[in-house]
Amino acid sequence: MRRSSRWGMLLVLLLIVLAGCTKQGNVHSETGVEEKKIRIGLSFDSFVIERWQRDRDVFVSTAQDLGAEVNVQNANGDVKEQISQIEYLIDKGMDVIVVIAVDSEACSEVLKKAEDAGIKVVSYDRLVRNANADLYISFDNEEVGKLMAETLAEKVPEGGNIVTIFGPTTDHNVTMMEQGFNEVMKDKNINIVYSIYATDWLAEQAYNAINEALSITPYIDGVLCGNDNLASEAVRALSENRMAGFVVVTGQDADLAACQRIVEGTQTMTVYKPVDKLAKSAAEFAVKLAKGEDIEVSETINDGTYNVPYVKLEPVAVNKQNLDEVIIDGGFQQRDEVYLNVYDQN
Ligand code: GAL
Repeated sequence: MRRSSRWGMLLVLLLIVLAGCTKQGNVHSETGVEEKKIRIGLSFDSFVIERWQRDRDVFVSTAQDLGAEVNVQNANGDVKEQISQIEYLIDKGMDVIVVIAVDSEACSEVLKKAEDAGIKVVSYDRLVRNANADLYISFDNEEVGKLMAETLAEKVPEGGNIVTIFGPTTDHNVTMMEQGFNEVMKDKNINIVYSIYATDWLAEQAYNAINEALSITPYIDGVLCGNDNLASEAVRALSENRMAGFVVVTGQDADLAACQRIVEGTQTMTVYKPVDKLAKSAAEFAVKLAKGEDIEVSETINDGTYNVPYVKLEPVAVNKQNLDEVIIDGGFQQRDEVYLNVYDQN
């Protein structure tokens, strides 16, 4: 064969190989038939709260291990920004859009637009109302409120005073938490002397709430904080009034700072939610939905209009007694970091 035709053959082979490598998002199954790579849009409220970084990392790594690619969007707590980011994901032709909604009501229309475009929709952790999502995957959020209330009912004396600092009512989890809280507290002899719903989970509102409550009465026996970030500022206000460690304080998410407060005695409990399990399971469901497979979820929850398949994971109450076993032995936080400010008794 002449030299020039050899070079020609090599060039053609090279072009074929390059074409195969450059085609975006195509994978070859065993049969060698090209399959389009599954594309998942992951729309976050924000990453201010520690747990969401973990949700993101576990979701992305699980989805990638399953051969999907994930486009992560962060709305930084801005509703309009999240809606425009979801529109962007629709235009990019995602197979599935997974949403941690800034506002449980505001995303309904744009998610129905996604469904009309043939895109599957998952409400992650927070239920998007009236959106007819293909799946809502979260924790038993009523149980979260019950666990907090049970700690307060157990440790606050008869006739005692508490302050409630819930998250925003724009987060449907807060509505569910409050239902659980009220279920436990309805027959307890405990006074709620001051109550707020912290806009956008802003922790500084918890600081102000404690000081407002103290201007009403100096006798506060307990504080319900809807998550650990709120608890951090509530404890700061209590500390400035030399009350930290003497007032029952609840939280949620098992943030590192909250675990430190629990072993140091300034926070009583946190509700631990195994977000690794939530994120891994959500990624697996998202891939199944993208493939058009039946997710086989029988439980449903009404989103205000539609009955949505509901996968509900169990939260765990964590206090000084079981923190080591649940949080440290479970690998959610590191022992040396949790006990950073105290001599580790173990
Ligand atoms: C809620 C979530 C909680 C808490 C809060 C703040 O929806 O269920 O875990 O972290 O958001 O982001």
